[in-house]
Amino acid sequence: MLSYADFKGAKLIVELGGGDGSITKGIIERMDPDATLLVFEISKEFCDNMKLEFPQKNVKIICDSAENLDRYLRGKRADLILSSLPFSLIPKESRQQIYAKSRSAVKHQGKFIQICYSYLLRFQFAKHFKQISTSFTLRNFPPAFIMVCQA
Ligand SMILES: C[S@@+](CC[C@H](N)C(=O)[O-])C[C@H]1O[C@@H](n2cnc3c(N)ncnc32)[C@H](O)[C@@H]1O
Repeated sequence: MLSYADFKGAKLIVELGGGDGSITKGIIERMDPDATLLVFEISKEFCDNMKLEFPQKNVKIICDSAENLDRYLRGKRADLILSSLPFSLIPKESRQQIYAKSRSAVKHQGKFIQICYSYLLRFQFAKHFKQISTSFTLRNFPPAFIMVCQA
């Protein structure tokens, strides 16, 4: 998933669904030292663990739903949004909010990158993003689709 993102020059990066922090760690290893990373995660336990694991000042662990993304960006736009949110489990109304807010929050040249298990998600993203390229990776278990979306 990370290999689809261009971290060089990306100054504002957002991760949706930080979980146990394994993707977060990969982002931090690759991002510019002066970049800022905002990580959204609704599980307090995961958030507490990530706050301990990633105490860097430029990494903000936000224990809130991705559907409130706009409140934290306050008008700024992200170069990259990386999501491993389980959209099939998220209620439709929240899902729609996350798609629309992610679309508004990513820069025109930026990318929204999703890892997922269903190709059908592409049709939902297509209502919000003009360009979508889909790849399939066996390097994840279970194998997964990577969808790279641009406005
Ligand atoms: C597939 S897991 C993430 C895996 C994680 N990236 C990792 O590498 O371990 C999805 C995560 O999304 C979180 N999540 C679900 N709905 C969310 C929402 N609306 N906003 C933010 N996080 C959410 C879940 O709590 C879960 O930790």
